[in-house]
Amino acid sequence: MELRGVAKTFDRSVEAVAPMDLALRAGGVTALLGPTGCGKSTLLRMIGGVEAPTGGSIEVRPKPRIGFCFQEPRLLPWRNVLRNVGLPLELDGRPRDVCRREARRRLEMVGLGDAAELLPAALSGGMRMRAAVARSLVADPDLLLLDEPFGALDEVTRFRLDEEVANLVREKAITVVLVTHSISEAVFLADEVVVLSPRPARIIERYEIPFGERIASLRGTEAFARLQASIYDCLRGGMVEDES
Ligand SMILES: Nc1ncnc2c1ncn2[C@@H]1O[C@H](COP(=O)(O)OP(=O)(O)OP(=O)(O)O)[C@@H](O)[C@H]1O
Ligand SMILES: [Mg+2]
Repeated sequence: MELRGVAKTFDRSVEAVAPMDLALRAGGVTALLGPTGCGKSTLLRMIGGVEAPTGGSIEVRPKPRIGFCFQEPRLLPWRNVLRNVGLPLELDGRPRDVCRREARRRLEMVGLGDAAELLPAALSGGMRMRAAVARSLVADPDLLLLDEPFGALDEVTRFRLDEEVANLVREKAITVVLVTHSISEAVFLADEVVVLSPRPARIIERYEIPFGERIASLRGTEAFARLQASIYDCLRGGMVEDES
């Protein structure tokens, strides 16, 4: 997938994303890091085809099956968790037992096996987000778009889910774009970290993440800490520049 000069201006005045070139590598994970309000969600929605760019073009071939986890969980309040998660398969016309089985499998993966029968209103914020992640995975996407999926979770749970996601996307060679505010999450999951400026989002820097296997012990290595530190400096530099 390739973005050429993709830009978004809302209401002819709010420039959210400045013209941007970005190539997503197939089967790789690209993390987008940037200050709040800089245009990350807008960029992700354009990549997912749910928001039209006001400039440039997005080239995709062949058309991917997209799994989208929005920044808000967007669960249907009248459906229980299992039936929310299985909805993309249901809309695909898959048999009921397949929908239930696959939904249950993804729920187990995100640690919500016990919550399958509950309604969204009975879940905590972090549980709702995990349900939304499960739903984005249920139809075996080849392009997975995650907008701060684990921001509401405690760090131990978040690390565990990052490890699950790392395994899954590598095993299935899913192309992923991950928006996150966590530098360590970006470094842990991504093959490339793209640092964005304050609004309108521009690419300040791209970091190649050279690690192979993404296992828990990676977080304790010196190479991991070094990368994290330089990305932090870059992000802070972009924000300080903006203030001056
Ligand atoms: N539908 C919309 N109409 C008008 N302005 C919008 C719309 N959606 C987003 N914006 C504006 O575009 C800018 C970027 O918003 P966006 O949600 O993409 O930021 P973000 O980087 O995802 O922020 P956060 O990290 O807080 O989620 C903001 O100034 C926001 O007010
Ligand atoms: Mg956002």
